[in-house]
Amino acid sequence: MSNYHIKHLEEYYQVYRKSVRNPSAFWEEIAEEHFMWRKKWDNVLSWDFSKPEVKWFEGAKLNITENCIDRHLFTRGDKTAIIFEPNNPDEEALHISYKELHKRVCKFANVLKQNNIKKGDRVCIYLPMIPELAIAVLACARIGAIHSVVFAGFSSSALAARINDCDCKMVITSDGSYRGAKTLDLKSIVDEALKSCSGVETVLVAKRINTEINMVENRDKWLQPLLEEASTDCEPEIMDAEDPLFILYTSGSTGTPKGMVHSTAGYMVYSAYTFKNVFQYREPDVYWCTADIGWITGHSYIVYGPLCNGATTVMFEGVPNYPNFSRFWEIVEKHKVNQFYTAPTAIRALAKEGVSHLEKHDLSSLKVLGTVGEPINEEAWHWYDDNVGKKKAPIVDTWWQTETGGIMITPLAFCTPTKPTYATLPFIGIQPALMDADGNELIGNQVNGNLCIKFPWPSMARTIWGNHQRYKDTYFSAYENKYFTGDGALRDEVGYYRITGRVDDVIIVSGHNLGTAPIEDTINEHPAVAESAIVGFPHEIKGNALYGYITLKDTGESRNQDNLRKEINQLITDQIGPIAKLDKMQFTQGLPKTRSGKIMRRILRKIAEGDTSNLGDTSTLLNPEVVESIIEGAK
Ligand code: WT7
Repeated sequence: MSNYHIKHLEEYYQVYRKSVRNPSAFWEEIAEEHFMWRKKWDNVLSWDFSKPEVKWFEGAKLNITENCIDRHLFTRGDKTAIIFEPNNPDEEALHISYKELHKRVCKFANVLKQNNIKKGDRVCIYLPMIPELAIAVLACARIGAIHSVVFAGFSSSALAARINDCDCKMVITSDGSYRGAKTLDLKSIVDEALKSCSGVETVLVAKRINTEINMVENRDKWLQPLLEEASTDCEPEIMDAEDPLFILYTSGSTGTPKGMVHSTAGYMVYSAYTFKNVFQYREPDVYWCTADIGWITGHSYIVYGPLCNGATTVMFEGVPNYPNFSRFWEIVEKHKVNQFYTAPTAIRALAKEGVSHLEKHDLSSLKVLGTVGEPINEEAWHWYDDNVGKKKAPIVDTWWQTETGGIMITPLAFCTPTKPTYATLPFIGIQPALMDADGNELIGNQVNGNLCIKFPWPSMARTIWGNHQRYKDTYFSAYENKYFTGDGALRDEVGYYRITGRVDDVIIVSGHNLGTAPIEDTINEHPAVAESAIVGFPHEIKGNALYGYITLKDTGESRNQDNLRKEINQLITDQIGPIAKLDKMQFTQGLPKTRSGKIMRRILRKIAEGDTSNLGDTSTLLNPEVVESIIEGAK
């Protein structure tokens, strides 16, 4: 029996048991039978969570792009690898075959080499969702350069921080991007960022919106002419299993963004294997994930996982509401999409517009629906199930993280019976644990605690770039010998998991992770601000929105508060990005603090939610009087 494709629940349980009884033997078999290696491993797994150190397939040699592209050339050369659907529905979609993808990746890889990029160098990719983005990622992997994709919605200072943190030698960007009816001036954001990035030698610029832009001599080069000249032959660099494949930044509850480092072999095996089984991908299915490649979802489930399986993967440049709210469904019908993977925030935004948009389109191709990024509320789950899947397409609610590299808790479509708001069961090889407040593992069902993982899995991040201590402190110090996820979860009477949300100071807004501390730090930079505290509050579409309590230095009589609000949000937009703007700002006389000076966020959260009936214990507060005035001001 091949364990690569699990087809029913019974088989899931069988394979799951096998995978946890003898993980090394299990993963060895998967790796051996379904991937292309230049040399096999000497050792499947070695690990020590106390260091922490994890190595999978040590001694193996490979190149992930041979697995994603070259090995399909004989059997699937003319098959479409990537369907590119442009922002503007009147612009023609592109179908890039595996053969064509191979050529384009090789050419791009040669351009990187000609520009002095070598194995191990870091390359920052700051591009919109155009084919060049996927191709740039694969071109880096082809020559062993470490890609660091930065979502093209981040501001220049956020971009600069990420470029500097891992010393990128090159930035790949475009003259601009289309986003619905708007165009964004990406190149000028890069120019601004590079004022503080002395290590960047070259900027490659793809043409997308054909505007006039500033090109810095000896630094900036148009990409297209270089590609035209480049050879279509590029031997893949032979990589060690544990060589870093990419860095991807994620926000933490405090401090600078964390550059999560993913390595080659384990990431490849796990992203491919989860893709196949979670979505039950079968040829010649067309699969569409609406995420941006700037997030981990796009890395694992637009690029690497699908291509490794020889799938056809859709890349969409635009937004769900352009030219109108029918766009997603129009694309599903046009490309006969079979698996559709999106985020709860998008589902809620679409649901709000009513079903008329769906009724105009033939959605009968849809076999599997997926959701990711935040807990999905029951109403959104049912709307998705009833109106998009017509109750015939199972919903896979996939829980995972940038750090985990691949899907961790999830139904397998057609195998696992689904339950609204539940991510259901651990994926093959994943050993979750729920922990109580005293640090003990909760045994049995119907329990609720902090979610940890007890055993390594192939695609886990190996470190934080340049800061292994922070990796240890953040993920391996809360509980001994366990990876701590930062999420809370409950396990129901049959062993299904429901993710209840973050238990740290991370707030998920429209599926994006935002740390409260970096936003507060930014606000506090405003000359009029003394201090601030950010909490989340429930929002109909975004899931959570941000509420800022801000204390001003001068009590504010002379200052125009509307202007101040605008200035503060502008500061946040400039330093972090528009996603982190505050929905509500309240100027306060002070913030409730404990005697040790810690802000009591619990109270602020309650006030933001509009629930002041039971604020809990306020006796430990240094300044209880401030609470009354905040409640008054919130009205
Ligand atoms: C956090 C990770 C991994 C892809 C996108 C987000 C939350 C993610 C779910 C889900 C409930 C979820 C968690 C997690 N989350 N998926 N299906 N149900 N919560 O990656 O930006 O690293 O965020 O997103 O809180 O810790 P990320």
